[in-house]
Amino acid sequence: MEIIICENPTSASRLAALHVAAVIRAKPEAVLGLATGATPVALYAELAELFRRGMADFSRCSTFNLDEYVGIGRDHPASFSRFMREKLFRHINVLPENTRIPDGLAGDIPGHCAAYEKAISAAGGIDLQILGIGADGHIGFNEPSSSLASRTRLKTLTRKTREDNARFFGRGEPVPQHAITMGIGTIMEAREAVLLAFGEAKAQAVANAIEGPVSASNPASILQMHPRAVIFLDDLAAGLLQRSDYYREVFEQKPHWQRGDFGGVVFWEDKR
Ligand code: PGA
Repeated sequence: MEIIICENPTSASRLAALHVAAVIRAKPEAVLGLATGATPVALYAELAELFRRGMADFSRCSTFNLDEYVGIGRDHPASFSRFMREKLFRHINVLPENTRIPDGLAGDIPGHCAAYEKAISAAGGIDLQILGIGADGHIGFNEPSSSLASRTRLKTLTRKTREDNARFFGRGEPVPQHAITMGIGTIMEAREAVLLAFGEAKAQAVANAIEGPVSASNPASILQMHPRAVIFLDDLAAGLLQRSDYYREVFEQKPHWQRGDFGGVVFWEDKR
């Protein structure tokens, strides 16, 4: 795992965006796995800015989102479909027909999930999967106890997740109890996983994921088994890591040719 600790969410998101842009430059038809929630909002704003400046072209990319609530349609204000249109898709040149999000109103949910998996395979698999992390360690909506080999399927959300996400719903409006989510096995097949986490509320989940045992009780810990996982943190989310000094040192000492992974851009303005 590569653990990159930045001063604040803005610098971390900028760096992550440069990394995504470098992946797209290297492979213009890249397949991106996308996440929703508060965490990737700044990343998407940075990607939109890179597009405006001519530094990122999404015209040949395709995207697959991690998850969607069951029981709400694509135009519901809290749907992830709407989130993606508002926060990213309408600001860049990805073709709408190349963006896929599970359908929260699918009649045949198992059939829909199987078709989603097939579509990912038919697209050549996911090149880079963006991830957030829940305070309970979930990735996508794979709640604790999810099979580490799971595929896209229906999941029941924990009370904690529903409480955390109530802020995206209208006052008094119930958060759906179920979601369709890519599985942990699906996520692990992405060629690269990029997880972002910001703020003190994520510090324990981040420490468990990076330095704790690999366990279905803490789904994000499976990234320890991923051959290419990059974790972007701010100082607060990194606050409970035992080896944060080492992670900072690794990044500061990165040889120039490795920094090229980030598009050859001089980006490390966060030097301490
Ligand atoms: P958040 O959610 O970005 O809104 O904190 C992250 C997640 O639940 O994966």
